Amino acid sequence: MRSFASSILFGLAFQAAQAQTAAEQGLKIIASRELGNCISCHSLAGLKEAGRQGNFGPPLDGVGARYSAERLRQWVVDARQFKPDTLMPPFGSMAGLQQPNQPRPLLTQEQIDQVTAALLASR
Ligand code: HEC
Repeated sequence: MRSFASSILFGLAFQAAQAQTAAEQGLKIIASRELGNCISCHSLAGLKEAGRQGNFGPPLDGVGARYSAERLRQWVVDARQFKPDTLMPPFGSMAGLQQPNQPRPLLTQEQIDQVTAALLASR
């Protein structure tokens, strides 16, 4: 029979593995031209092989050390909530869009969670 302590350890390892997977998925979304396409405006050292990167927005290296998970999520969902004049596009909101290309936000809640995990892991 497994002891209580080893069940907890197993649970923690499982959670860490899940976070790892979420961050990996998030990195793919950040690099993907079809999904986040964040690298059209940002650079991230870990994504050099993804090709040409943008310099319109600040580099995303180290954002996980500069912001909380909650604030990183807000940057992706809709940064206008805390910085009304920002030029960072909203990936989780349709607010203000007059001619949206699709009837839903650019990223789903799950994709936003994964992108947030990837940003948080960039330290
Ligand atoms: C159209 C260009 C553009 C795209 C695409 C874009 N961003 Fe941004 N982003 C910006 C700009 C510009 C800023 C700076 C905004 C400001 O300071 O108000 C910014 C700021 C940020 C910040 C805060 C960085 C810091 O150091 O303060 C994060 C985090 C961020 N973006 C993440 C993302 C992610 C993740 C994606 C893709 C899902 C993305 N961005 C897509 C333009 C973009």
